[in-house]
Amino acid sequence: MTSTDVTTSMFERIGGSATIDALVDRFYDRMDALPEAKIIRAMHADDLGLIRDVLKRYLTEWTGGPRLYTPEKGHPRLRQRHIGFAIGDAERDAWMLCMRGAMEETVTDTAARLELDKAISGLADWMRNRQ
Ligand code: HEM
Repeated sequence: MTSTDVTTSMFERIGGSATIDALVDRFYDRMDALPEAKIIRAMHADDLGLIRDVLKRYLTEWTGGPRLYTPEKGHPRLRQRHIGFAIGDAERDAWMLCMRGAMEETVTDTAARLELDKAISGLADWMRNRQ
């Protein structure tokens, strides 16, 4: 191993922007269609076009890809941005159901998918703001 060895980002491991785009699209498709996701679909705007773009930018940056979120939106402060939405266990579970299905469909590298699932699950837990 030489000193030029660098860590591969999660962004690269899962296949870069093509995978992020597919993941986010499948995620919101599920939110739009699954009966179990009705409680969180109702919190979102009728048109999911804008939020698809924002979540793609956020996840690109968060997985170690290009900084597409912060320069435009500022520090993520994600928990604070969600404070206006009542998020408890049921909402967290509905969100993760959509995200897990989308990951299974789009992230083919199993080890990377398990790591990503763990990290995103932690974020979703942290987003809860109601008993
Ligand atoms: C745990 C359950 C969650 C619920 C119910 C939820 C719900 C929402 C809602 C209703 C919005 C506003 C959408 C709109 O403007 O139409 C939003 C925005 C957003 N959510 Fe979540 N969310 C959850 C978890 C997460 C997690 C885990 C992440 C990150 C992986 C995330 C990332 C985002 C981002 C990046 C935005 C846009 C923030 C901005 O305005 O810049 N959310 N979420």
